[in-house]
Amino acid sequence: MSSDTAPSWQADIDRLSEQLSEAISGADDLEALRAVELAALGRKGSLTALMKRIGTLDKDERKAFGSASGGLRGRVTKSLNERRETIRRQGVLAELSDSSFDETVPGRSSELGHVHPLNRVQMEAEDVFVSMGFEVLDYPEVESEFNNFEALNIPSWHPARDMQDTFWLESGQLLRTHTSAGQVRAMHALKAPFRAIFPGKVYRYEATDASHEHTFHQLEGLMIDRHVSVGHLLDSMRTLLSAILRREVTVRLRPGYFPFVEPGFELDISCQVCEGTGCSVCKQSGWVELLPCGLVHPNVLRAGGLDPEHWQGWAFGLGLSRLVMMRYGIDDIRLLLGGDARFVEGFHPGT
Ligand code: PHE
Repeated sequence: MSSDTAPSWQADIDRLSEQLSEAISGADDLEALRAVELAALGRKGSLTALMKRIGTLDKDERKAFGSASGGLRGRVTKSLNERRETIRRQGVLAELSDSSFDETVPGRSSELGHVHPLNRVQMEAEDVFVSMGFEVLDYPEVESEFNNFEALNIPSWHPARDMQDTFWLESGQLLRTHTSAGQVRAMHALKAPFRAIFPGKVYRYEATDASHEHTFHQLEGLMIDRHVSVGHLLDSMRTLLSAILRREVTVRLRPGYFPFVEPGFELDISCQVCEGTGCSVCKQSGWVELLPCGLVHPNVLRAGGLDPEHWQGWAFGLGLSRLVMMRYGIDDIRLLLGGDARFVEGFHPGT
């Protein structure tokens, strides 16, 4: 449209457009901008007033006026919004430059989590046993006195109870002192012959030191079959230990007494922390008691509903916490469940 044929209202629209864009860019804060907005688009605003003129125009002019004034309104709304955004951003920047906040300091990136070394070794041990045909079972930490002691040939008067004092509940139940509490559970739950492991947390009322904790992890293994021998037991243990420790370890077998096995043994491994020279973990002996084991006592088989004339078994109670310490050269068991994140962060996957 050329200027000489421009309708009379066009000049008003152009003028208002110029005025408003000046007013908008001149507004320095949100309050001033809000005033400009009201003065233009409010009920008595200049643009509102202009738009009302449509009623005074001829029919054929209305369309052109409508689209010109509507276009202006659209542009004004848009620049009001943009200006508001700019003012806000400037406000934030001003605040930042006023304070001690240094936006050039790199942010703290979030660390990728990983499994605790105890769970890691437990999972690896599970894999080894699963590959040898064992099932992995999970049994409760709150146990009956029967499963934890009586069924394992440890009646209430037995001196072996003194070595495994624990935390008793008012119900008469207790926090299991060893994963062996799962032995008769497994015998009742599974059909002989079977092979199973049951890893988990155990508790003892214990004075703590570098090698004793009130809460620690064990992994129980139980194999029930017709003809089992200490040879099977030893070979399974060797397979497990060389897989977890990733090297040939020196082991020794000593007679050991546990009321629920006969014969019973202590399988020791050479201390991986000091390599046999003596340290706080091995109490200067060079050996660490890692794995009590033996052939299942007939009384235990009976408590599990199995006839000792037909069934035999071997069992072991691996000290999972000790094994983790051996694998990583950790010299204080209290670090394992101490809850210090700096400790756990040291064990990245692949170690
Ligand atoms: N439950 C015993 C303990 O914690 C270890 C053990 C398990 C011994 C299985 C023999 C057989 O001391």
